[in-house]
Amino acid sequence: MKGIILAGGKGTRLYPMTLGVSKQLLPIYDKPLIYYPLSVLLLAGIREIMIISTPIDIADYERLLGDGSRIGVSFTYQVQEQPRGLAEAFILGETFIGDDSVCLILGDNVFHGQDLTAMMKRVQEKLRGATIFGYPVKDPQAFGVVEFDENFHVKSIEEKPAVPKSNYAVPGLYFYDNSVVDIAKNIEPSSRGELEITAVNNVYLKRDQLKVELMGRGMAWLDTGTPDGMLQASEYVKAVQDRQRYYVSCIEEIAWRRGFIDLAKLHQLGAELQMTEYGQYLMSLK
Ligand code: DAU
Repeated sequence: MKGIILAGGKGTRLYPMTLGVSKQLLPIYDKPLIYYPLSVLLLAGIREIMIISTPIDIADYERLLGDGSRIGVSFTYQVQEQPRGLAEAFILGETFIGDDSVCLILGDNVFHGQDLTAMMKRVQEKLRGATIFGYPVKDPQAFGVVEFDENFHVKSIEEKPAVPKSNYAVPGLYFYDNSVVDIAKNIEPSSRGELEITAVNNVYLKRDQLKVELMGRGMAWLDTGTPDGMLQASEYVKAVQDRQRYYVSCIEEIAWRRGFIDLAKLHQLGAELQMTEYGQYLMSLK
C-alpha cells in the first residue's frame, strides 16, 4: 500500500501565520504539524509515501524530510499547482500509486489513540473498495458528514452540509483500492470548484464498496484549522508527553519500533539533535 500526504492549500484561516510558511510546517508543541499525519502512515507500516504541496512550499518539505532513507522509508515529492481539491491527489499520484492500493491522509490531521495501529492494520487487511472513518464531533458542518439509515447503514456522505444529518464527521484519513485513480479522474468539480473527496466516497458508496469505521471515544482527532485548535492540539501533546515517558508522533521512534531502522541508527539520529529534549529522548530509547 502506498501513502499520500496532502500538504498544500493556502492556510488562509491561519493568516498571518501562514503568509510566509506552509501550514503543515507550523509547530504543534515540539514538532512540525506534518509529523503527526506522517506518523500515522508509518504506524500503518506504509513506507512509500508521496508528499504533495504547492510550488512554493514543496522545497521546504524536501528540506525537512529528505528522501526518507534516514528513517528507512522513501519520500516522493509532487507539486500541486493550484488547490483543486483533495481528490486531485490521486490524479497527481497516478504513476506513484501504480497498481497499488493507497492511504490518503491530510497533512493537517492529528490522530492519537491506543487503538490506532490495530485499527489501521484491520482496515488494510480487509480493504475492499474504500474505507473511511466516522468521528463524533460537536460541529459537523465544517466537515464531510455521514448520513445513516435507521439500521445504521451509510446512506450518504455530504460535504459541509448546512443541516448535518448526523454528528459523525469524516476525518482526513482514507483507504482506497486502485480504482480510486479512475474515480478521481471522472468526478466533476463541486460548486466551489474543487474535486471533492466526498464525491469520490459517494462513487464507492453507489458501488456498495464504501465502509465507514466509527472511531470511538478513546481516539483523539484534533483540529488544527484555527489558532485555538493549534494551541489546544499543542497542549494535548504536551500534556501526554509530560505525563508519560513516551512521545506523541515521534517519526524516528516509530520507524525503529516498526523495524525500518535499527537501534544504532535511532541513537545516531538522536545524537544529531542532542541539544534538544527530542534528541535526548531518541537516545534514551532501548
Ligand atoms: O479534515 C477533514 C475534512 O477535510 C473532511 O471532513 C472533509 O470532507 C474534506 O473535504 C476536508 O475538508 P477541509 O475543509 O478541512 O479541507 P481543506 O480545503 O481545508 O483541505 C484540507 C487540507 O488539505 C489542508 O491542509 C490543505 C490541503 N489541501 C487542500 C486542497 C483543497 C491541499 O493540499 N490541496 C487542495 O487542493
